Amino acid sequence: MIFFIDTANTEEIKKAYDMGVVAGVTTNPSLVAKEGRDFVEVLKEIIAIVDGPISAEVISLDAVGMVKEARPLAALSKNIVIKIPMTGEGLKAVKILAAEGIRTNVTLVFSSNQALLAARAGATYVSPFVGRLDDIGHNGIELISEIANIFGLHQIDTEIISASIRHPLHVTQSALAGAHIATVPYSVIQGMLKHPMTDLGIERFLKDWEQAKS
Ligand code: E4P
Repeated sequence: MIFFIDTANTEEIKKAYDMGVVAGVTTNPSLVAKEGRDFVEVLKEIIAIVDGPISAEVISLDAVGMVKEARPLAALSKNIVIKIPMTGEGLKAVKILAAEGIRTNVTLVFSSNQALLAARAGATYVSPFVGRLDDIGHNGIELISEIANIFGLHQIDTEIISASIRHPLHVTQSALAGAHIATVPYSVIQGMLKHPMTDLGIERFLKDWEQAKS
């Protein structure tokens, strides 16, 4: 499993990318709105930082509108992946974009059947939302595992992005469940790299080093 970072904040993207752990970026309209900046400007900055798949989401609800939004976004860079909501119109858009060689990430996936349909329509990625399923009392990680089993059984090469990740345990569980990618907020990356025993160990090494000198 590899990591994408789930944010439209270019500072966070740069910090995570510099650590060498981030292979791509996912954004969504809420994350972009939070930055209060022009969408295309933000995308251009991200493109300059990360050499990997960058998901940019459309806001139209009809296939024609989605495709119309997608083409200029895809023209910004070979790394742009068009994020499409999991609807019938969305699947129509995925089919058209796939035929044009434009990669898609079908988002807001909450069932295996949705993931299967998206894959058959030609999606490059599907994004099941783990945290939002947990929020309503379902098991988000079970969904990742179910989709991974189905894709494995039927030799489907659409990749699973475990999304709506809320904490480090979701990351471990996503890896064990067979997600190809986990898209994680910067705060979760920080949570993953920290361990109190590491901090204590560094403190003790430095103390011993200083004592040996005196
Ligand atoms: C996925 O691509 C979405 O941007 C994201 O993971 C949604 O997460 P949230 O449920 O924390 O908003």
